[in-house]
Amino acid sequence: MESLSEKAQVLQKKIQDAISHAHTLEELEQVRLAYLTRQSELALLMAQLKTMTPEQKKEFGPRFNALRAQAEELYESKKKQLQQTQYQAHERKKEFFDVTAYQPRLRHGSLHPYTHVIEQIENVFISMGYCVVDGPELDDEYTNFEALNVPAHHPARDMQDTLWLELPKKLMRTQTSTLQIRSMQQQKPPLAILACGRAYRYEATDATHDYVFMQTEGLLVDKNISMANLLATTKTFLAAIFDTKRIELRIRPSYFPFVEPGVEIDMQCIFCSNGCSVCKQSRWIEIVGAGLVHPNVLKACNVDPSVYTGFAFGFGLTRLTMLRYGINDIRLLHSPDLDFLKQF
Ligand code: PHE
Repeated sequence: MESLSEKAQVLQKKIQDAISHAHTLEELEQVRLAYLTRQSELALLMAQLKTMTPEQKKEFGPRFNALRAQAEELYESKKKQLQQTQYQAHERKKEFFDVTAYQPRLRHGSLHPYTHVIEQIENVFISMGYCVVDGPELDDEYTNFEALNVPAHHPARDMQDTLWLELPKKLMRTQTSTLQIRSMQQQKPPLAILACGRAYRYEATDATHDYVFMQTEGLLVDKNISMANLLATTKTFLAAIFDTKRIELRIRPSYFPFVEPGVEIDMQCIFCSNGCSVCKQSRWIEIVGAGLVHPNVLKACNVDPSVYTGFAFGFGLTRLTMLRYGINDIRLLHSPDLDFLKQF
């Protein structure tokens, strides 16, 4: 039995050493698994009590129990100590948080390409004495069509697929030409107005079409206004937008119900000298729909066509912005894609 007591002593020493050498909670857990579980050396030693005589039990029982109690106590207090150390280390890390390690990137905001182009256009026209005006996107049939010389059942209504509202005679404006009417209703000539805003068409979206897009509208009404004024104005603003003096224009007859004569103005491609994908190898880029204001439009706004004449023009600001910045998909222009937007 001497050896049993020696065994207990050796085991006690082993457990004490193991616990004192455990420096982390993980290491301590290994000690627990080795010495304090049901299959451990200590448990095997304790199990021997069962086969002992009552005298032996009296002698070894208290010793073994004390050994176990001491081992458990040592284990528990070491565990607390390690937990505390770990917690303190964690807290210290927080306390000495290296603020320089966190380097927030400054994200600069930027203007949307539309904003850049609108600003440029407005500046050119303001410099020529125009007033910048605005109007509702939800408008009525009269302003969008009838006053613009497009009565009901006129075939020209089919030129622009309309988003009608479930309100009588209400629609999303198909063109910013509504501003021609609204301006003349509010102000007597001479007048010169410019408007940039959204227009809506009931059509499917693809790389070059969207149901909503931006248009620019210009109107000048005064005495003795001719095509020459229109061409000079168009040339001036295109030169400013594309930052070049080399603007060559070509005009073609066209039809818009609210102008007579109606024209389309093309600009010689400034991106190539002998054909490219932008001008579709034609060397000409269609830019503006325009003409001299139709007498019926003037009359609808109580302006006397025998005294006043005017020109009006309209162009796709969306298309111009895409041309200006080489954007090849309208959906990018209308998306919140930051990688795209922060380039501007
Ligand atoms: N409103 C026309 C369109 O949307 C463009 C235009 C405006 C044409 C003014 C002539 C005069 O197509």
